[in-house]
Amino acid sequence: MVIEIRYLEVSAAGLTAADALLREAALQAAGRAYAPYSGFQVGAAALLENGEVVTGCNQENAASPSGLCAERVALSYAGARYPGVPVSALAIIAMSGGDVRPHIAPCGACCQVMLEMEQRGGKPMRILLCGKDTVRILPSVSALLPFSFTENDMEL
Ligand code: THU
Repeated sequence: MVIEIRYLEVSAAGLTAADALLREAALQAAGRAYAPYSGFQVGAAALLENGEVVTGCNQENAASPSGLCAERVALSYAGARYPGVPVSALAIIAMSGGDVRPHIAPCGACCQVMLEMEQRGGKPMRILLCGKDTVRILPSVSALLPFSFTENDMEL
């Protein structure tokens, strides 16, 4: 058995206007991160199907497990502010020392939360992994987490 993951890698300058705006929103959010312990600032911007853009950034804590990643901050805010509205795209970007980092992929816990949000919405959530000059575009969260635990696994 083989699992293939297909994604596009495009130049940041060549993004569609909507994707460029989402990348910029994620970048602005990264600048607002509370990351005094790692110095690693992450921003996430979710485009909702109603056209709203909701952002999040990592929120660290001296008791480190109490902190939260940018992706989960953004998606939790989206769910709280616009319950039931599908997320059609999520842009993620990281900075350290004032520089944009090469593309990062969300951690496993974030992938799990992103997956459930995608399934709740019933539509693919495009993922934009943003670097300085290029952006990797994945068609859905399931591309990041092809084997996953979902509510279906709990059905008897
Ligand atoms: N972080 C995120 O916010 N998102 C990711 O995708 C990876 C890691 C945060 C968590 C922590 O505040 C810092 O980056 C270093 O791990």
